[in-house]
Amino acid sequence: MRKELFPSKNIGGVISVPGDKSITHRAILLSVLSEGEITVKNYADNSDCRASIKAVETLGVKVEIRGSELTLIPPDTLSLEDGTVIDCGNSATTARLLSGIIAGSNLTATIGGDESLSRRPMDRVISPLSQMGAEVFSEDSHLPVRIVGKTLLPFQYDLPVPSAQVKSAILLAGLASRCSVTVREKVVTRDHTERLLDDIGTGVDVHEVKPVMIADPVDPRKKRMKMPESFRKEISLPSQAKILGGTVTVPGDISTAAFFMAAAAISKKTITVENVGLNPTRTGILEHLKACGCSVGIEDRQVVSGEPRGTVKVTGVELRPRKISGDTIASIIDEIPVIAIIAAFTEGTTIIRDASELRLKESNRLESVAANLELMGIKCGLLEDGIVIEGGRDLSGADFKSFGDHRIAMAFSIASLFLVGPSSIDDASVVDISCPDFYKILEQVAS
Ligand code: S3P
Repeated sequence: MRKELFPSKNIGGVISVPGDKSITHRAILLSVLSEGEITVKNYADNSDCRASIKAVETLGVKVEIRGSELTLIPPDTLSLEDGTVIDCGNSATTARLLSGIIAGSNLTATIGGDESLSRRPMDRVISPLSQMGAEVFSEDSHLPVRIVGKTLLPFQYDLPVPSAQVKSAILLAGLASRCSVTVREKVVTRDHTERLLDDIGTGVDVHEVKPVMIADPVDPRKKRMKMPESFRKEISLPSQAKILGGTVTVPGDISTAAFFMAAAAISKKTITVENVGLNPTRTGILEHLKACGCSVGIEDRQVVSGEPRGTVKVTGVELRPRKISGDTIASIIDEIPVIAIIAAFTEGTTIIRDASELRLKESNRLESVAANLELMGIKCGLLEDGIVIEGGRDLSGADFKSFGDHRIAMAFSIASLFLVGPSSIDDASVVDISCPDFYKILEQVAS
């Protein structure tokens, strides 16, 4: 349903956002392989995570929901009826992590998804899982994918694309099949799986490669930094690794908080987000806001369930444009739609490169962002791997399209607070994918 959106001059406040989607997915999916119960406090109650709940129920996990708490009780043995189809809805995290679990579990299942998910690449998990010994069938490397799980072979894999979902799929396949696996990352991606395995399990080993100082080959009197390996992080699980179970307390989702932080940045006002996840693989948005000139303060820092969290206070200023590229992209991969909105209200040229992965998300996010920015009167240039955005003033309200993508709907809802005249978004309910309360929180900060 189309939703009307209006400009607001009254921006500010203290909010909290729902639990982190990535951590919630992992806590739910790990229950399939856990020896004991897993309780998830402050879980992300959204349609994506409900796809993971339904998937684990199909595999025999008993799920009890009490308020904001989930209890997942694993079955004694995993079983699936022949021909079972597990529908992952819109959730790529469910589809890819579950593929790993099925591949290593001596089970057979077909994994499916909605129209958007069925357009997203699955070859990135099909290839490593097949190399491990699973039988994986797909017509064109997209969903539906039929997986015949097997006893897998010990495996070492250098990730060809920076993807936490692929990394996690391989780790879970190894865990399910009790075979040792090592995944090496050239670009560091979100590490919630590793942290969770460490928090409620045993065996995971993470080795970070640090740069070393060497003599400059041209002028040996000088020193320079060099990476001693071709990768930055190595994550290993031995064959005896286990998930024991326990309680996981989920912090607020920084990817949801980012939309409200952007509202503070553009309005030059202050918004405080309490109890938000501060995992260093996810805090690229805070670095971006600082680099644009905003003040970003963090209080009440804590580590709970292996994940850092804190209260973040963002105050906006006259913003500076930036060029963002390289390894930084992985730490803001889900925040680029809202970073594009910040760019639209920043005088000067913002350049985003090395972000071709955005073409493979819930929508082609480079195209969806560019189409909507143009409706506001922003000039932008689309590149194969990014976008160039020329910031403007007195931009006009518009009838935006969500392209079926929750983060596009949320980003342009934030933009509409600063446009001249009313705007609308065609399918506001798409925010249910990650944050059903998005518009309620928006009313709290923009009255
Ligand atoms: C996610 C990883 C990222 C991210 C997605 C959630 C996860 O995807 O964009 O929203 O929970 O592992 P990729 O692994 O494809 O980079």
